[in-house]
Formats: sequence, C-alpha cells, structure tokens
Amino acid sequence: MTVTVRVPAKVNVQLAVGAVRPDGFHDLANVFLAVGLYDEVTVAPADELRVTCSGPGADQVPLDRSNLAARAALALANRTGRVPHVHLHIAKDIPVAGGMAGGSADGAGALLACDALWGTGATRAELLELAAALGSDVPFSLVGGAALGTGRGERLRELPVGGAFHWVFALADGGLSTPAVYREFDRLAAGRDEPVPPPVASGALLTALRDGDPTALAATLGNDLQPAALSLYPSLADTLATGTKAGALAALVSGSGPTTAFLTADATAARTVADALLDSGTCRAARVAQAPAPGATVLG
Ligand code: C5P
Repeated sequence: MTVTVRVPAKVNVQLAVGAVRPDGFHDLANVFLAVGLYDEVTVAPADELRVTCSGPGADQVPLDRSNLAARAALALANRTGRVPHVHLHIAKDIPVAGGMAGGSADGAGALLACDALWGTGATRAELLELAAALGSDVPFSLVGGAALGTGRGERLRELPVGGAFHWVFALADGGLSTPAVYREFDRLAAGRDEPVPPPVASGALLTALRDGDPTALAATLGNDLQPAALSLYPSLADTLATGTKAGALAALVSGSGPTTAFLTADATAARTVADALLDSGTCRAARVAQAPAPGATVLG
C-alpha cells in the first residue's frame, strides 16, 4: 500500500517582522497565501526510514534525517507508538530553498501521508501541533488557502479569499538560507535609530484578499524581509524591475527569497510577465500559478 499527498507552495502577501526574541525567532504577522505549485510526497512501508527525491533541484535536497519529511515521519511515529519504517518519496516542483515553503510542504505532506498509511486516528489539532514543532511554516502547508500566522508564524487564523489571484514566480539561481536572511534583517535593524515596531496585519490587505481584488491587494503587499534578501542577493532588484515594467501590478520577494513574486490582473497578463522575465535573462525560470490553492490533500 502507498499513500500520496499533494502539498502547495506559499507566497507571503504580508510578512511583518518584529524584533528578534530571546529564543532567536521573530514575532510575525504573516499573511500566507497557498499557490498552485505542488510537491507530492508518497509513503510506502519499508525495512527502514528512507527518503528519495526527484524533480528540479532534487540534488540539493538532503536525504538524511535533517529532511523535514523524515522528521515528520519520526515525530508522528514517536507520538503514536509506531516504528517509522517507511520509504518517503518527494516529487519536487516547488523551488528548493526558494522562499516558497518547499521544505515545509514536504514535512506537512509526510505527516499527512504517514497518518493515512498508519491509520493513527490523530486529530487535526494533534497534526497541527506536530506540524508547528517541525517548523514555523509547516502548519500552513497543511491548512492551505489563506491564513494569518502570528507568533513565529505557526499560530494560524484562516482567512476568507473572494476570488482567484494570478501570480508569476521568477526562480533565481541558487538559494537563500532563511536563518541567514533573518540575521541580515537583524543586522540592518541594528543600524537604524528606531526600534523595530511590533508586527501588525494590514486591515486593507485582509479586505483586498476577502474581496478577491488584485489591484487593492497589489497596493498593500509587503515583505519586511525584502531589504535583507536584496542585501544578500542584489541582482533580485533587476528581476523585480523587469516584472513591474512588463505590467505586473506589484512585485516582491517571496518570503526569505530568492524567488520573486509578481501579482498580475489576469491569466493573460501573467503569461506576458512570465515571458518578459524569461526573455530578460534576469531569472532562471518563470512559473505561472493561481491562488488560493488547497492545503495538503491525500490523492490516494
Ligand atoms: O521555523 P523554521 O525552522 O522554519 O525557521 C527557520 C529559521 O528561520 C529559524 O531558525 C530562524 O533563524 C528563522 N526564523 C525566525 N523567526 C521566525 C521564523 C523563522 O527568526 N518567525
């Protein structure tokens, strides 16, 4: 028997970052939107815990117990008294180390797939609690749609979304390490006179999401990690400018980057922006995707 789970990528339409906490994390007001780029995690019984990976960037994915999918299987087995002898296969389509929660998606996918394989009977609340222990973005990968994440991003309130949003994602060469981008955020904050304000979700942004209004959403998008990502990866500024010139309503770094995200008016505009980005040579690839997308889903 095997179980396959499909899990979406995310873009942060607002990522408000507070000062660093004593535990090293940052308090966030993090508005997640799941987008239609997916990884698939397949689990099957095996003699020992094993992880394999295929697809773009698969060679950069660790296959040991640092992989969030492996850690998810171990955590669920530990919680429910099972032996974690499974083969987890990750079919990647979400950019690796791209700021689109690909690793978190694999953790959420493995959690749900192992839960279905083993028939643990764990409640949704228990799965969400295990997900939060695996990483700040893992609960959202389970839930999908749109949600406001507070705390370090793991405490979720689901948000209504009134229509489809059309996005383009420009993939960059190489990746950015999330901890390194947060460290750069701290370094830039230390150089300023004012303290970092507490993170607050934008009411106008939540309204734009609820109304399904891309122009209003474009006016309110924001990512406090963007200056840090640009500081570590300056050429992303050229990618952002290219997409804007080609007609995107707004352009921003996705999460901790280096993927850049472009909100467009409709599917036709998205194709135009994707073509312009590819032609410009300022990115490695451009992908079109719609949002919102459902959270982790068992396919069979
Ligand atoms: O929770 P997760 O393992 O995904 O976080 C990866 C890293 O990102 C953390 O070790 C920390 O450096 C940084 N981070 C943070 N504040 C958050 C979330 C992540 O500083 N709210």
